[in-house]
Amino acid sequence: MNNNALVIRGGRPLRGAVGIQGAKNSVLPILAATVMGGGEQVVRRCPQLSDVESTFHILRYLGCRVRREGDAVAVDPRPMDRCDVPDRLMREMRSSVVFLGAILTRSGEACMSFPGGCELGPRPIDLHLSALRALGAEIFETGGNLICRGHHMVGREVNLTFPSVGATENIMLAACGASGVTRITNAAREPEIEDLQHFLRAMGARVEGAGSSTVVIEGGYALHAAEHAILPDRIAAATYLAAGAAAGGTVTVEDVCPEHLSTVTSILAEAGCEVRAGHTHITLHRDTPLRAVRPVRTMPYPGFPTDAQSPLMAVAAHAEGTSVFVENIFENRFRHVGELARMGADIKVAGRVAVVCGVPRLYGAHVRATDLRGGAALLVAALSAEGESRLTGLRHLDRGYEAPEQRLAALGADIRRVEEPDAGAGGSVRRAAGGACD
Ligand code: UD1
Repeated sequence: MNNNALVIRGGRPLRGAVGIQGAKNSVLPILAATVMGGGEQVVRRCPQLSDVESTFHILRYLGCRVRREGDAVAVDPRPMDRCDVPDRLMREMRSSVVFLGAILTRSGEACMSFPGGCELGPRPIDLHLSALRALGAEIFETGGNLICRGHHMVGREVNLTFPSVGATENIMLAACGASGVTRITNAAREPEIEDLQHFLRAMGARVEGAGSSTVVIEGGYALHAAEHAILPDRIAAATYLAAGAAAGGTVTVEDVCPEHLSTVTSILAEAGCEVRAGHTHITLHRDTPLRAVRPVRTMPYPGFPTDAQSPLMAVAAHAEGTSVFVENIFENRFRHVGELARMGADIKVAGRVAVVCGVPRLYGAHVRATDLRGGAALLVAALSAEGESRLTGLRHLDRGYEAPEQRLAALGADIRRVEEPDAGAGGSVRRAAGGACD
């Protein structure tokens, strides 16, 4: 259990450049895909995150050899001798459901517990299961477990009723093990899907179309050793840009794909920041008061990312005027609002809509992260707040941000990680009942 806290004295402008980690949402399905290859897979730019550690636990449980050297991880799937993921490992990270398609392709059968709900609300996997069934997998749901057999999967057209990221990835992985052609329509178009395609192709798979809403996979080819560098994390980049916007100053995020961040940077520009994008970096400068922005509606890519909603809300919380956020992807994604209120924010939530009335300033407070991106919002708010904040619940933040305090301190923030003497704000340290997610 992570009993650390971040102690932040806000109000110092940030100045400098920050290197961006490899994308969490890209590395997880790619590490799952390593089990399908016939030789050692090398994944570069692999971020040091607790979710990545959870993925290593699953790979090792399955029998794979996993070795990290700096930011490179080598996975040797050849000794793999299991096809089940135990409940305790599934609970560490809800997105481990993406192992389903990969293990089916590797072993022809897979068994794991049903991944239940999480901090963001109910998290059904009906789209994953109906698509795998359409490819011919037999799936039994019994006693909270999923028992799947897919020795004879056959490619076909699969139309997703919603462009689910995880379902698109699971189908791509399973389709590599199905004979013939699978065509996914209304596929998710997130850059991380394209990154998975790059890795699968490096292993010898026939996949095309990722990044568009139709992905075509010709399955049945033997996959071999490969090497791949993970895409930069657009959500971590959005968070550091939001930090620069909130605290003021000049922040450059390096090693990013600016086109992946255009919806976020256009909102930040509207809030009064100067934003300049190069080929692989973005510089944000702010020295005038923040302004309210037009309604921010989260949508599947290329729309505004749900994962950047909360960090941007922390910026709007002390802008002049009223901003509206509409969350269209997850049911329960405003849990940071109550914590922002402790810092003086004036935000009203009705269902999927949050109305943010900007206040002149936020004040330091003792706040607790209740989910990953909500934690990022509190961090951004604390950097701009007057006085000292203490942020607990870091097990959420550490799932998705690699050494955030070091990166922010290098930008001039007054931030340090300390041991939390007691259980923190709001009473005892609680673990969410379901698996951690997003
Ligand atoms: C991924 C990302 C997460 C991001 C999200 C949306 C990872 C590890 N996580 O999550 O950071 O916020 O995409 O961009 O990549 N749904 C169903 N049935 C299904 C699958 C999904 O109803 O079978 C619903 C979900 O409950 C949710 C919505 O569809 O409301 C989006 O989910 P999805 O795109 O699948 O997100 P994840 O892959 O879980």
